Amino acid sequence: MANRLILLGAPGSGKGTQARFICEHLGIPQISTGDMLRAAAHTVGSSLGGKVREVLTAGELVSDELIMELVLKRLREPDCLPGFLLDGFPRTLGQAEALRAARVSLDKIIVLKVPDEVVVRRLSGRRVHPGSGRVYHIEFNRPREAGRDDETGEPLEQRDDDREDTVRHRLDVYHKQTAPLTEYYSTRTAGSREAAPAAFIELDAARPMEEIRQAILSLLD
Ligand code: AP5
Repeated sequence: MANRLILLGAPGSGKGTQARFICEHLGIPQISTGDMLRAAAHTVGSSLGGKVREVLTAGELVSDELIMELVLKRLREPDCLPGFLLDGFPRTLGQAEALRAARVSLDKIIVLKVPDEVVVRRLSGRRVHPGSGRVYHIEFNRPREAGRDDETGEPLEQRDDDREDTVRHRLDVYHKQTAPLTEYYSTRTAGSREAAPAAFIELDAARPMEEIRQAILSLLD
């Protein structure tokens, strides 16, 4: 059975952390639009890179057109045949509708739910290894050596958009533009007339990482 999954949730709900576990377990690619955009933002000398960097630093969303182009191209690659996990996409009703119009089938929509204050605490302590995308937390998921990546020993960094005022703005953007997707998908799945509606699952993600991981793994296969 294919595993075509969407992981939805606020910034800092743990999408990236859980996506890594799920993708390793199922052997499917993690398609993170945030990672794709950060890679584009670091393309030196490109005007697109500069624009994307500005949007990310401000905590706004890039246009649906740009995201759809990136995602649909990625989904056509052969490693997506056995399934894929969309992490941080879709993020607007427009993106969800465009995905549907492109006839991309989905099996499960998993929503990670956390209160805003938990998000602020998680993101202010997040540290990342820019080369690999590995994610740590100064309190909840410490690297073996403070400030250094476990595998390479290279320095960890704080993301530009993890400053508290930007995090609060990203949360506003999430509540206005992305949270309506939970209703969109729950009503499309419950009582849907589609031949094979996707399962819609909401999880309490304010729990320890390992508990959430186990809850997700029990939903798979
Ligand atoms: P993106 O990179 O997708 O950021 P995000 O959705 O804001 O999510 P985060 O990466 O901040 O958090 P996460 O849920 O992955 O949490 P994590 O596992 O790291 O997008 C960045 C930007 O790109 C957007 O703002 C936008 O500008 C643009 N963009 C992206 N997609 C777009 C789209 N589709 N359309 C338009 N624009 C788009 O965990 C966070 C921290 O908490 C870590 O330190 C982790 O160690 C810790 N942690 C995780 N789980 C737990 C736990 N259970 N308990 C304690 N700590 C935990």
